[in-house]
Amino acid sequence: MRWRRITWDTNFSGIDELIEEFLMDNPYDHHACLDIGCGLGYSLDKIRELINSDQVYGIDTSRKALVKAKDKSSNVTLICASAECLPFNDKIKFDIIVAGHVLDSSDEEYLKEMLHEVSSYTSLKSRFYMTFDWHEACSLKQNSAPFRNALANSGWEVIHQESYDKANEYLFAHGLFCVAEKN
Ligand SMILES: C[S@@+](CC[C@H](N)C(=O)[O-])C[C@H]1O[C@@H](n2cnc3c(N)ncnc32)[C@H](O)[C@@H]1O
Repeated sequence: MRWRRITWDTNFSGIDELIEEFLMDNPYDHHACLDIGCGLGYSLDKIRELINSDQVYGIDTSRKALVKAKDKSSNVTLICASAECLPFNDKIKFDIIVAGHVLDSSDEEYLKEMLHEVSSYTSLKSRFYMTFDWHEACSLKQNSAPFRNALANSGWEVIHQESYDKANEYLFAHGLFCVAEKN
C-alpha cells in the first residue's frame, strides 16, 4: 500500500486506498459518489478511477481547501457546502458516500442530523465509507455506541470495520475504517 506524506496543511486519511482494498474483496458496482469533507482532494481522482464514473462530487466547508482540490482533481464537481445541508436536487442518488477523517469529533446530535440529510440522497445498498482519526479529541475513540446507534437509526448497517495504524516516513494515519450499507 502506498501512503503519502502529510504536509502542514492537511491531515490526509488515505481512505481511497482503504476503499480500493475493500473493493478487491467485496466488488461492488458504484456509479455516483459524494465525498464529504473532500479537503484538498487527495482521494477524488483515485475514487473516480476506482468507480469509473464521471459522477464524483466533493463537498467541503472550506473554500480554501476546495481551491487547492480544484488544481489537483479532474472531472469532479466541487461544491462548498456542509454535510448536514446538501446542495442537491433530491432526484440525485449517491451509491457511494465517503467521509475520511471528517466525523471524528461529531456529537450524537450532529451525527443524527448529518445521517438524516445524507440518507435522503442514497438508495438501498448504497455504501458509506468512513475513517475516524484516533486523535485525542475523537469522541468515538472513547465510545462508539452513539455513532453506531445513529447509523442504525438512519437505516445503515455496519458491514465492515477495521483499525488501521500506519506511521512511517510518508504518513501518519491512525484510526478506524468503517463501511456501512443502507438497508
Ligand atoms: C481532516 S480533513 C480530511 C480530508 C479528506 N477527507 C481525507 O480523507 O483526507 C477534514 C475536512 O472536512 C471538512 N469538513 C469538516 N466538517 C465538514 C462538514 N460538516 N461538511 C463538509 N466538510 C466538512 C474540513 O473543512 C476539512 O477539509
